[in-house]
Amino acid sequence: MAHNERFAGSMDLPPETEQPNVYPLSWHRETAKMEEIWTSAQRDQWDPLKLPWDTFDPSSYTWEQRESIAYWWTLLSVFDASAPPVFAEALIKTYEVHEEDPVRRCFFSVTRDEQMHEQMCGLSITKLLEHPDPLTYEPKTDIGRRLQKNAKWLYFNGGRYWSGYKTAVPRYSLAVLFSSFLMGEIAAATIFHQMAAGCKEPVFQAAFRNIGRDEGRHMAICMSLMERDYPKLDVSERSIITKQIRAGYLFLSAVLFEPPMEFWDLPADFIDNQREGERLAREAGFHIPDYDTKKQNWRNAILNLKGVLDRYSIPFPAIPEVDISGEEISDVDLDDIIPVF
Ligand SMILES: [Fe+2]
Ligand SMILES: [Fe+2]
Repeated sequence: MAHNERFAGSMDLPPETEQPNVYPLSWHRETAKMEEIWTSAQRDQWDPLKLPWDTFDPSSYTWEQRESIAYWWTLLSVFDASAPPVFAEALIKTYEVHEEDPVRRCFFSVTRDEQMHEQMCGLSITKLLEHPDPLTYEPKTDIGRRLQKNAKWLYFNGGRYWSGYKTAVPRYSLAVLFSSFLMGEIAAATIFHQMAAGCKEPVFQAAFRNIGRDEGRHMAICMSLMERDYPKLDVSERSIITKQIRAGYLFLSAVLFEPPMEFWDLPADFIDNQREGERLAREAGFHIPDYDTKKQNWRNAILNLKGVLDRYSIPFPAIPEVDISGEEISDVDLDDIIPVF
């Protein structure tokens, strides 16, 4: 019906509102676990601006070290700066499909958390480089120049997924959309806890503790969504989930492990530059887990997710990169990628 058509003169009560309508006028509470997670999200709120920045003196590092640490924050921000809009879009979907009240609140909390993570990336980069944008910054060292080239390629790759994500959101249910997030959140929570334990700068320790705790909650949100929805999953959705897990692995590997070249369009010297930057950052007391630790974290996270999917008889994809066998998935389409961290 036309939005300006008038009814009040001829009807006692208005016509039914066409569905799906963006706003539910209801506050159903069914999933008690989501309620608990929301309560802890409220309790754990933090503010990057209030961290002990006065203890942080970037000039105590060499420029090579500063550019290398800033590169790691840039790599993280390729994911964490896309997360606020990605979750904002998912938040809108929870309203469109009239999700229960605590689920709407949980998605709101993830959107908010990811905004904090993005702010944290920005603050660190700006202080380290004395410039608010790692792509227009003028590098001072050779490694800085090579890492900036890496950053430009990462940014280019990340930028290609937004339109695919936007078309995927209306097509799939929340349970499908979020199927691969669980392993991302498990691995992220682990890595941030390791970085919190190993970093020597108090401001970074505090940030990683907070971010790790946030990611742990996001993991719990994914889990409760799966526990609620997977038992009633349509058979046709199972194969999409299997593909989505493989796609999620390929996408998230760039930050949680190393970017697979079959999927990420990156120059041949990318990995060597990144490894050198990570080594310099590590030597400066910025504790990035090494290759084997990352691989082990990633494998554990994937096995965890496999344990969940097995319970609901959803076939798991083969992930030979971390020695996990399963269904071969060869045709991962850019449109199937649902990138979130
Ligand atoms: Fe995050
Ligand atoms: Fe997250």
